[in-house]
Amino acid sequence: MPIPPSINLRPFHEADTEFFAGMAADERVTRFIGDGQPWDQETIQVRIRAALQQDPLDAEGSSRWFLAAEATEPVGIVVSTRKDEGIEIGYWVSPDHWGRGIAGAMVNSALVTIPEVYGTQELIARVDPANAASAKLLTRNGFKLESHHEGLDHYTLA
Ligand SMILES: CC(C)(COP(=O)(O)OP(=O)(O)OC[C@H]1O[C@@H](n2cnc3c(N)ncnc32)[C@H](O)[C@@H]1OP(=O)(O)O)[C@@H](O)C(=O)NCCC(=O)NCCS
Repeated sequence: MPIPPSINLRPFHEADTEFFAGMAADERVTRFIGDGQPWDQETIQVRIRAALQQDPLDAEGSSRWFLAAEATEPVGIVVSTRKDEGIEIGYWVSPDHWGRGIAGAMVNSALVTIPEVYGTQELIARVDPANAASAKLLTRNGFKLESHHEGLDHYTLA
């Protein structure tokens, strides 16, 4: 059995902008995100500013991003945002590294880090039903499919 990759999850910094922008402008990555289109530069900058803003953690919409590195190489990001229903998580892996278990390692780590940061175990995720790898990742990590709204499956950590 292949050895799971060893990744380190740490807070996202401004210096990680280029890595994130590369993923956000890649149609393979955004296929199941939002309207499915790659993000333009303005959207990328607006989202990064919001993520770096460090709004109070108890405020609705407050977000924290994390960079996943394998040795010193950035391989993915985990995003988290406080919503009414819980802390919504999302994860993006650089396409060069897909299929190696990186997302599995990132979600494992995020399930420890994010509840510590926000002080709650109530995690949720919204996934395009066609995104088979993402759905598998969530069910493997204890999320249950709860409902379906506006084209997205809603998962809750059981
Ligand atoms: C979804 C995504 C994060 C998966 O990353 P990854 O590092 O390739 O995932 P992993 O290698 O950890 O695989 C996760 C599971 O999905 C399975 N899987 C991987 N690619 C798959 C595919 N194309 N179809 C079906 N299952 C797949 C793996 O076998 C694994 O299941 P297992 O634990 O039973 O072996 C990555 O494809 C990605 O960043 N996509 C773009 C952004 C996105 O859609 N994010 C999710 C929405 S927030």
